[in-house]
Amino acid sequence: MPRWLSFWRVPKNKSDLKRLDELTKSLDMSKLPVHIAIIMDGNGRWATKRGLPRAMGHRSGVESLRDIVKVCSSLGIRYLTVYAFSTENWKRPTEEVNILMDLLVEYLKKELKELHQNNVRIRAIGRTDELPEKASKALVDAQNYTENNTGLTLNLALNYGGRNEITDAVKLIGNDIAAGKLSPESINEELISGYLYTAGIPDPDLLIRPSGELRISNFLLWQAAYSEFWYSPVLWPDFRRVHLLEAIIDYQSRQRRFGGLK
Ligand code: FPP
Repeated sequence: MPRWLSFWRVPKNKSDLKRLDELTKSLDMSKLPVHIAIIMDGNGRWATKRGLPRAMGHRSGVESLRDIVKVCSSLGIRYLTVYAFSTENWKRPTEEVNILMDLLVEYLKKELKELHQNNVRIRAIGRTDELPEKASKALVDAQNYTENNTGLTLNLALNYGGRNEITDAVKLIGNDIAAGKLSPESINEELISGYLYTAGIPDPDLLIRPSGELRISNFLLWQAAYSEFWYSPVLWPDFRRVHLLEAIIDYQSRQRRFGGLK
């Protein structure tokens, strides 16, 4: 086991350990998804089920994120994009929004060094300049600190909305046309991809949504056109390495045709 995984929340009972071992053996390391995207859902329900405040669900969700980042990095996954705060999440009570922002700052503060030592590059996608100052500053610092890293790229989707992203891209394209830098005839799918927040990052191969919800919720609308979806009833704070491996193994069994024939 790579040293970095030593803090992984190892399953406590024998049957879970056996399952983890079986899954690890079934994994085809030559067919890993290049880009995994995750909608980290179910924190609130996890807390409510235990009679805890929602904040505790988010705090526990951060622990799942820490673990999944380490596993993805150790497996050699190139890109991990996580939906941490949507453009719609501002509708939540101010107290909950503040808690989420504080958790983000705390996560970056606590993890940055270790992420950097493990060659992880942090990137933020979304209208991050509209986040509270301490959060946007922490993000800018983390991105600068890790910008030359060549291992896993961790994309944090914050104040992110797929429709906003496309709207922002259309505005930028319009500006470039008005400035004479671009002709309308040159607009194609590749060009549009290059104007998105995810410019330069391949589309997600695998999109994971825990918590039993079967929606895309305004996440990576353009990029997920041919992503393989994997859903699970497990709530995000309960999401473990075993679930990630199940998702990847299921992905490896799929036949991707991208609209063509095999
Ligand atoms: C959805 O669960 C989750 C969120 C809106 C936030 C996800 C955030 C984290 C896991 C932690 C903070 C992120 C970082 C990067 C440190 P929900 O609250 O909608 O759950 P529910 O549907 O059960 O109410």
